[in-house]
Amino acid sequence: MLLLTSVYELLWLVTTLTLRCTAQTVSVTIPFSAPSSAPAISRSLVSFSIEQDRWVDWIGKGTSNTFFANVLNNLKALSGEPTRIRIGADSEDHTNFDPAVQASQSLYSEDIFPAISTTVPYPEATNITVGGAYYHLASLLPSGTQVIWGVNFGQANLTAAFLETQAISKAFTSSAVKSAGITLAAIEIGNEADLYANNGARTSGWNLQKWETFASNVTATANRILKTKVPIIGAAFASSSHSTSGFSPQAIIQNGILNSTGGSQIKIISQHHYSGSFCSGDNGVLQDLMTKATIRSNLTQYSSDITAVKQQSLEYILGETNSYSCHGAPGVSNTAGAALWGLDYSLFASQIGISRLHFHEGIGYKYNFIQPITLTRSILDGSTLSTPLLPHVQPLYYAAIIAAEAIGPSGKTTAVELIVSNAQVSGYAFFVNKILARAVFINLNAFTGTTARKSVHLALDLIGSGGPTHMTVKRLSIPTANSTSGLTWGGQTYETADGKVKGSLSTQTVPISQGVVIHDTEAVMLCF
Ligand SMILES: *[C@@H]1O[C@H](CO)[C@@H](O)[C@H](O)[C@H]1NC(C)=O
Ligand SMILES: *[C@@H]1O[C@H](CO)[C@@H](O)[C@H](O)[C@H]1NC(C)=O
Ligand SMILES: *[C@@H]1O[C@H](CO)[C@@H](O)[C@H](O)[C@H]1NC(C)=O
Ligand SMILES: *[C@@H]1O[C@H](CO)[C@@H](O)[C@H](O)[C@H]1NC(C)=O
Ligand SMILES: *[C@@H]1O[C@H](CO)[C@@H](O)[C@H](O)[C@H]1NC(C)=O
Ligand SMILES: *[C@@H]1O[C@H](CO)[C@@H](O)[C@H](O)[C@H]1NC(C)=O
Repeated sequence: MLLLTSVYELLWLVTTLTLRCTAQTVSVTIPFSAPSSAPAISRSLVSFSIEQDRWVDWIGKGTSNTFFANVLNNLKALSGEPTRIRIGADSEDHTNFDPAVQASQSLYSEDIFPAISTTVPYPEATNITVGGAYYHLASLLPSGTQVIWGVNFGQANLTAAFLETQAISKAFTSSAVKSAGITLAAIEIGNEADLYANNGARTSGWNLQKWETFASNVTATANRILKTKVPIIGAAFASSSHSTSGFSPQAIIQNGILNSTGGSQIKIISQHHYSGSFCSGDNGVLQDLMTKATIRSNLTQYSSDITAVKQQSLEYILGETNSYSCHGAPGVSNTAGAALWGLDYSLFASQIGISRLHFHEGIGYKYNFIQPITLTRSILDGSTLSTPLLPHVQPLYYAAIIAAEAIGPSGKTTAVELIVSNAQVSGYAFFVNKILARAVFINLNAFTGTTARKSVHLALDLIGSGGPTHMTVKRLSIPTANSTSGLTWGGQTYETADGKVKGSLSTQTVPISQGVVIHDTEAVMLCF
């Protein structure tokens, strides 16, 4: 006799019997105890990088931008650690310091913007001049936030880098920033210096001696004010030669930069990476981004770099990353499909020695997780909007939420990728104190709405004694891969006016022996 313990099981049975004809079944083995090889996974794995020309718009002009604060606090509440924030990027090399730019005039920075275009509806400022108060605004970040700030190396103006370093150091030793619990995790000296020869930031290109001169001045200046040795971000290159010549971590090590006065304070090597580019206006195809194999190959191309960095006992991060460079591709970077890409990309990165990913964000960029202010023109083509768009989250924000929830606040979480014999379904198991706590599965098949939605039945084999018999299933529900809104996570939405979660939580508790069905363009989290 069949004994059904809940209405969900009945529903499950009906669904499974109907699906059995169509759904492929894939067996997945999940260890109940963490394998000894399981890497630790950072609570701030998914972090942010903010284009600093409009930092003031993100954080708020002297009083907190509550939408931005709320969406950051959602993540902090789930993982117990605020996302780390890197502030800088391209505009860090276009920023100068002028003490006359005063907060008393509500002017934290003065920006000069180029004309907008359909390809670049929200361009970066070409000239940014900041005063000391600009850096003090860090006090408005969630308590406990660790900040990386960039200083200008691109314009070869040592005085600019010196004045910025001095202002940053003074801000992080001010009582306002200290009492808010905000710390300076590192200083970055220049953004993507490997491109200087091409992008006009500096005609003579990268010069090693010059970087060491800057690093020596920046570290001496910061160390004196902060009364401690500030960590320096090394590399921050746009690409890597993966060899000891050209631009790469290997070249930095080979050239002895780590042995130089300032370079000895390099504690983190940062790589920048985008999976594609929208710089020439080529949209790309969403399913290409959502491909399990290329998500892996985009990251494993750095494996030899990561090994070289770890051999020096340094940390390796993606200090700036996102889907398509030049602010994202319309209909790809701003969609729900990109959220599944971002989740799989981040979790896979944790498996190959990347300790953190700073997803790049700018006001009005297509690939944002968060649009923190009201927008009056389209992020897709710059056309004037008939109705302004209030602050809101974009689909990728759910990737940050799910990663934070799966990792959890223990500070002792390890994770392994699970072997899923399906070209488009990936899976990860999360262990707390070495015991299985959660698993996440992601189905990367792009559901377009034109044909019936397919699914895969994952038959779960939990190995190891003393394991649980039931699990709770939570789903990221997505209308179609190219949807830009309408996602729900366990029935709840973050697409709200204040950025706080809304709606009642909906999960299902089922026997593990039943496995789980995962539809095309869906993510599920299992809690054991
Ligand atoms: C912007 O900065 C550059 C130096 O980087 C300078 O040559 C130019 O005059 C500045 N433009 C304006 C409008 O201030
Ligand atoms: C750094 O450079 C500035 C500007 O050239 C100079 O005034 C300052 O003395 C330098 N500091 C150190 C520690 O080299
Ligand atoms: C370098 O920066 C200093 C300090 O802001 C500024 O006064 C000076 O004009 C800059 N030099 C050049 C060549 O841009
Ligand atoms: C840097 O210093 C370390 C330790 O002293 C040494 O082993 C290494 O060979 C040096 N690297 C270079 C490129 O000089
Ligand atoms: C990265 O992913 C894109 C698709 O998003 C693909 O076209 C590209 O070939 C991949 N690059 C590598 C190095 O795997
Ligand atoms: C998604 O794609 C479909 C089919 O190409 C199209 O009709 C629809 O407008 C797209 N939706 C969005 C939000 O771009």
